[in-house]
Amino acid sequence: MSPFHLTRTLPEDATDAALRADVHRGLTGRPKTLPPKWFYDAHGSDLFEKITELPEYYPTRAEREILVARSGDIAAATRARTLVELGSGSSEKTRHLLDTLTDLHTYVPVDVSESALTQAGQALAAERPALDVHALIADFTAELTLPETPGPRLVAFLGGTIGNLLPVERAAFLASVRALLAPGDALLLGTDLVKDEEVLVRAYDDAAGVTAAFNKNVLTVINRELGADFEPAAFDHVAAWDAEHEWIEMRLRSRTAQTVKVPALDLAVDFEAGEELRTEVSAKFRHEGVRRELSAAGLDLAHWWTDDAGRFALSLSVVR
Ligand code: AVJ
Repeated sequence: MSPFHLTRTLPEDATDAALRADVHRGLTGRPKTLPPKWFYDAHGSDLFEKITELPEYYPTRAEREILVARSGDIAAATRARTLVELGSGSSEKTRHLLDTLTDLHTYVPVDVSESALTQAGQALAAERPALDVHALIADFTAELTLPETPGPRLVAFLGGTIGNLLPVERAAFLASVRALLAPGDALLLGTDLVKDEEVLVRAYDDAAGVTAAFNKNVLTVINRELGADFEPAAFDHVAAWDAEHEWIEMRLRSRTAQTVKVPALDLAVDFEAGEELRTEVSAKFRHEGVRRELSAAGLDLAHWWTDDAGRFALSLSVVR
């Protein structure tokens, strides 16, 4: 078996402190919000995997189609020896890239979910004896320090997860990724594209209710970690298209007037009947917007690839 390293860049209680700060800020603000990164405990990560298999949720399949068609081009354009994957989750889609990058020496999956990282990382290290797997438990929206690995590096941020950041957060994130890259290194970015509103809303409000369960799971996480008494059944799942910002919003709508206690924060949170808590934005992009945002971070868009139906795009920037 090849080497499998697991590195925690933050102390365990830093995650806890970040959760407390986020929940406090989000539940005392107006409108109430929670950042989407807290969906992904072990159960939330499982639910997300189920979402990717839903008939309504096209992004995973569309992105896989592009990866299958373009991995050879990506390998030729980057000659990467290290693949860093931000928000790697189960690393399922990445397998194709791992198979095609012929010069690859090291894989660095980065995720906040320790369970997903350990499962995926160990399986990969066992399957690919020649590959050095260096898993990193880290929040890629915070400051990132990468292990010393051979270049050129390809940093991949797939799944459209960049859309879960607000525009100012995206700008800061892209600038911090750019700062990690040396000449010859590259960024591979997955972005879901603007399309018919009905198709978008259905992708975030599926008939089987998996996305609703995923959305409500954040309440379960807060109950467990902060001793809160959220009653998930007292909230309805909402998915809405915001045409001005061109993003999908997921919200939890309080069915009644209710008060939720969060003992670890010494907080009692009042909800009005019908009040909505925003749990995620998922921005949808256009070619020009992606080019502009990359360029503002000092990155040139070198390749833009979409699936045949034009639903999703992968873009590649190589640092000169
Ligand atoms: C994490 C970006 C892949 O925004 O589509 C899926 C998460 N939320 N269904 C997305 C998600 C609701 C997802 N990504």
